[in-house]
This record gives sequence, C-alpha cells and structure tokens, in this order.
Amino acid sequence: MPKLLIGTRNPGKVAEFRALLADLDIELVSLADLDLDLVVREVGATYQENAALKAKAYALASGLTALADDSGLEVDALDGAPGLYSSRYAPQVNPTDADRRAHLLKNLVEHPRPWPARFRCVVALATPGGDCRFSEGICPGEIIPEERGDFGFGYDPIFLVAGTGRTMAELPMDEKNRLSHRARAVKAAAPLLKRMCR
Ligand code: IMP
Repeated sequence: MPKLLIGTRNPGKVAEFRALLADLDIELVSLADLDLDLVVREVGATYQENAALKAKAYALASGLTALADDSGLEVDALDGAPGLYSSRYAPQVNPTDADRRAHLLKNLVEHPRPWPARFRCVVALATPGGDCRFSEGICPGEIIPEERGDFGFGYDPIFLVAGTGRTMAELPMDEKNRLSHRARAVKAAAPLLKRMCR
C-alpha cells in the first residue's frame, strides 16, 4: 500500500487528518511512528510557504511523501489577524489554546458585533524527490464572546460555523470533518495524493 507521512505535531490535527484520509487506501504514518524528532520553524511569509517548509522537511527526513498544513483564523474586525500567527497569538511565552482565545476576545471587545471570521487551511504535499503541490480550504463563520462546546481544539469553542448555529467545538468530529477548512483542503488534495504517494 502507498504510504503518507502526516507531518504535524498537533494532536488535534493528527486526529482530523487520520479521519479525513481514512478511505483513501493509503497507509498513514505519523511522526511518532517514525520517532522523527524534527522541529520545523514556521518562518514563511504565507500559509503556503510554511506548509511547504514543513512538508518538504518531513519528506526529506523520512523518504516518504509527506502532508503538512498551515492554517489560521482570520477575523475581519482585526484586519485578518491572527491569521498566519494564530498559534503564536498571545502574550504568554508558551500560550495554551485558552490563552489564545482570551487574547482574541480581549482585542475584539472594543469592536461592535458581529465579528465575521474564517478559518483558512493550506495543505502541502511533498515528495522526497522535491515535488510539492498545494490545496486550500476555507470555513466561514463568526467569533462569539462566550465559549461553547467540548470538541476540537484551538479557537473552536468561540468560532460559530456559518449556517449551523453551532460552534466548531459543538460539532462532533464527523461533522467538523465535513465542513472544516482542513476537510475542504484535504478533499481538494485527494487526486494529488493518489498520484504522489508511493
Ligand atoms: P499551525 O497551522 O500549526 O501554524 O497552527 C495554526 C493555529 O491556528 C492553531 O494552533 C490553532 O490555534 C489555529 N487553528 C488552526 N486550525 C484550527 C481548527 O481547526 N480549530 C481551531 N483552531 C485552529
């Protein structure tokens, strides 16, 4: 069976990618499976550059086709912030998801509601030979001031998914995996995956 390395250390993303890729007849390998202790710094200026940095580094280190994503939350009232910096968006040195959510709400308080926003995800697929391809997915919604729901990770409890009346954290995994930015990017990458995995 062809193999694909899932190039992320985020346990929430690993679980989502495993579910999203389950039906593709590809053997999914995690960084933990390979004991691959490679930390890739996200120094790119775009989601695409960061996703490529990660996918290429993991493909080279493992000898397998690797998938990595870069994703973020874009809030209109904050001119698209936190965007590319979503994982670093808090004053703390090693912020938790709760720190990031609190910081976002603090910065939004002075802006009138509603607070339209979207999650964006760029997936990069890289082969050890240096080929790298991309796909993108968007999930529109709005930020709400109180946390709702226990599923998911990151900004999910304060992100109301357009058309559902529920936050991303109120959607069970199978529903998040039909609507999310990551689901849409992975779906768009399916034809590439079949070609690029060996
Ligand atoms: P990165 O893609 O690893 O740079 O991380 C992006 C950051 O955006 C994550 O650490 C989360 O804070 C946020 N994020 C990305 N996707 C999601 C999601 O599906 N739900 C909630 N937060 C997300």
